[in-house]
Amino acid sequence: MIDVKEIRKDFPIYNREPKLTYLDSAASSLKVKTVIDHVDHYYQSLGVNVHRGAYDLAYEATKLYEEARDTVSKFINANADEIVFTRGTTTSLNMIANAYRDILKEDDEIVVTELEHHSSILPWMVTAQKSKSKLKYVPLTKEGRITVEAFKTVLTDQTKVVAITYVSNVMGYVTPIKEIIKLAHQKGAVVILDAAQAVPHMAIDVKALDVDYLAFSGHKMFGPSGVGVLFGKSKLLNMLEPVEYGGEMADDVFKDHATFKEAPLRFEAGTPVISGAIGLAAAIRYIQKIGYDQIHEHTMHLKQYTLNQLKTLKGITIYNETADISTITFNVDDIHPHDIATMLDQYQVSVRAGHHCAQLVSRFLGVGSTLRVSFHIYNDINDCDVLISSIKASQDFFLSF
Ligand code: ALA
Repeated sequence: MIDVKEIRKDFPIYNREPKLTYLDSAASSLKVKTVIDHVDHYYQSLGVNVHRGAYDLAYEATKLYEEARDTVSKFINANADEIVFTRGTTTSLNMIANAYRDILKEDDEIVVTELEHHSSILPWMVTAQKSKSKLKYVPLTKEGRITVEAFKTVLTDQTKVVAITYVSNVMGYVTPIKEIIKLAHQKGAVVILDAAQAVPHMAIDVKALDVDYLAFSGHKMFGPSGVGVLFGKSKLLNMLEPVEYGGEMADDVFKDHATFKEAPLRFEAGTPVISGAIGLAAAIRYIQKIGYDQIHEHTMHLKQYTLNQLKTLKGITIYNETADISTITFNVDDIHPHDIATMLDQYQVSVRAGHHCAQLVSRFLGVGSTLRVSFHIYNDINDCDVLISSIKASQDFFLSF
């Protein structure tokens, strides 16, 4: 069982006064001390570049950076040369969509869903426009889920790419991805999985999934912002054109042509996110120490408790009661979500309000915006109670006019 009092000792932000009730981990998790210490160590004791220097400090920095790649690869059951460090999920997804602009042809089909975050739709929308391929959407169930059955209705012999979320950032539903990948492969399509919301809550095994590309960020899993991961199967990564050109990604450069290294360095032009990668590895070790089973059990307990309490209030519409992770998306009758969120802030309660960079989900729900509460291991029942009493106080305030 998770002991929140002990866990909070690992998160320096809880030393802050007044105490915060942080319920926006799906946007960014709080940062754990061991991550901060590892990033700090790099800057305090090393601070030099990787892959380039012939001096001790450079060897040490390179060792830590490449060990981080190793840690990430083991974390998702990939090979180290399949791990590219990027700026974050958005960059990773854009890199792949950009690379496929020259591969896709007229009448090829790209399958996405209405549950995607903008990062998993917009790059493909532009790629579809530029390559004259077709963008198709998997129809959602009434509840807003992606199902294998619905996926089959849009999969054709022309499908070349499936870009899909593993866990919806608004609905918290887990996509039945293994079966979808299998079907996509039968048609010769590649699958790009947005795992930004999955990785903070569930173990990922790219070999078991047989996924072609996968992206996630450090900052949602207690790691630093500004670092993310692009996983790609080696044979696919090495087939793609590099996305950026510059230092340390070329083999031989002549006046009129050049040859490029294999992945991952092929995709890491310039000085990489060294401190970010080192910090991300520390975040992974921290998650492994806690364990996903414990994370799931704890956060789902908080979710269920909060749902039960929310239902005792009047005028609450909950959109995703059956979410598979601890995300609750809801609205309060007659009060704009931004007004509630601003009011909650008066009680030091942090939630997200808006369309959550997933406007198609808002359109699906038939609302402009929603409130979203998301939990992690540092939250406790008191946080849920403070949330509920603050919503109640907000209702009393706004509905008194
Ligand atoms: N994509 C992040 C969220 O859902 C920022 O809030």
